[in-house]
Amino acid sequence: MLKGKHIVLGISGGIAAYKSAYLLRLLIKKGAEVQVVITPNGKEFITPATLAALSGKPVVSEFFAANTGEWHSHVDLGLWADLMIIAPATASTIGKMANGIADNMLITTYLSAKEQVMVAPAMDLDMWKHPSTQRNIKTLKNDGVIIVEPGSGELASGLSGKGRMEEPEKIVEAAERYFAKSATMAGKKILITAGPTYENIDPVRFIGNYSSGKMGFALAEEFASRGADVTIVAGPVGISLENTSIKRIDVTSAKEMCAACMEEAPKADYIVLAAAVADYAPECVADSKIKRENTDGMTLKLVKNPDIAATLGASKRKGQTMVGFALETDHEIENAHKKLEKKNLDWIVLNSLRDPGAGFMKDTNKVTIVSATGSVFAFETKSKRAVAADIVDTVVG
Ligand code: CTP
Repeated sequence: MLKGKHIVLGISGGIAAYKSAYLLRLLIKKGAEVQVVITPNGKEFITPATLAALSGKPVVSEFFAANTGEWHSHVDLGLWADLMIIAPATASTIGKMANGIADNMLITTYLSAKEQVMVAPAMDLDMWKHPSTQRNIKTLKNDGVIIVEPGSGELASGLSGKGRMEEPEKIVEAAERYFAKSATMAGKKILITAGPTYENIDPVRFIGNYSSGKMGFALAEEFASRGADVTIVAGPVGISLENTSIKRIDVTSAKEMCAACMEEAPKADYIVLAAAVADYAPECVADSKIKRENTDGMTLKLVKNPDIAATLGASKRKGQTMVGFALETDHEIENAHKKLEKKNLDWIVLNSLRDPGAGFMKDTNKVTIVSATGSVFAFETKSKRAVAADIVDTVVG
């Protein structure tokens, strides 16, 4: 799993840094190529000479090489790496990561990381338990960082409790699990709809809704990070994709979204309908701007848009899994079951408008996932990316 993988190993200043040499050796033995980035305090605990000898590469610590003035590019490291492991991660490093305090090379590398980041915390038990540390850990989890939970046992302070950095073998296993997971969806084709649709009234006005597209885009990134071949059909949204392998089809109206989906759906193994499709569109669209002085008032006649989910559900082929979304104000589960049946879906993701952390334009969401077979899975409020991971885990199984 680790053969040929590029790993950035970040080391911060804690006693457990002595174990990082062993972790580095294990990674190299497994065939990984490792670049060490160490904080100034980390060097107090383990020498760069040891780490350079084990990795076969000069250790990076400062923004510039003292003797030549050469700039160490954290941006290039972010592009080079397949995984960044920070072990040990002290309370201070975790706090800086959670808050973007880029005062050393390790944090700038973290902020530039395009790859998955994994953190193995190491600190005294009271520091680990402190609400500030726990808040920062929660922030990192929401930012998509994998936390290799510290173990319990004797600590450097002489006290005993939770806070010991996990053993190097276990950190290597976590890295292997990550690479195994990132290949689980290889060869699978995913179609996702996202964002609102705009239904034109005249050349300058439309009927739309507040959907930001963030949930659909987070799902696209999550599926792609697991190796899937993803196509996203997006309504008008101001978001760009990080993963360049994702195919993006931009549309405006429900009819355009439906046409694009009909084209793409037969190839898809999973279809996720996260778009807030306008249910109605004006029957007639004015060719030129409707002028105020020509009208006393206005009545718009609306006609029903195609139901994309129901259309695709009606022609669902064997082996295809369809996931819909629903935002209900009351009788959530009951309505979810009706929609599952009516649209021939396998899963429906319910967001409730009653939850302060859920809904349009937010970066967080709180969902309940309901299956056609009657299972119900309720989740906490999380970032949309973390919610996307829960959705993929649930529907892929
Ligand atoms: N959907 C769709 N095309 C539509 C309307 C909805 O594909 N014209 C999809 C949504 O993307 C979502 C699911 O159907 O995955 C449920 O959407 P929702 O708006 O809750 O359902 P409606 O059928 O429009 O029912 P309601 O009357 O509750 O709005």
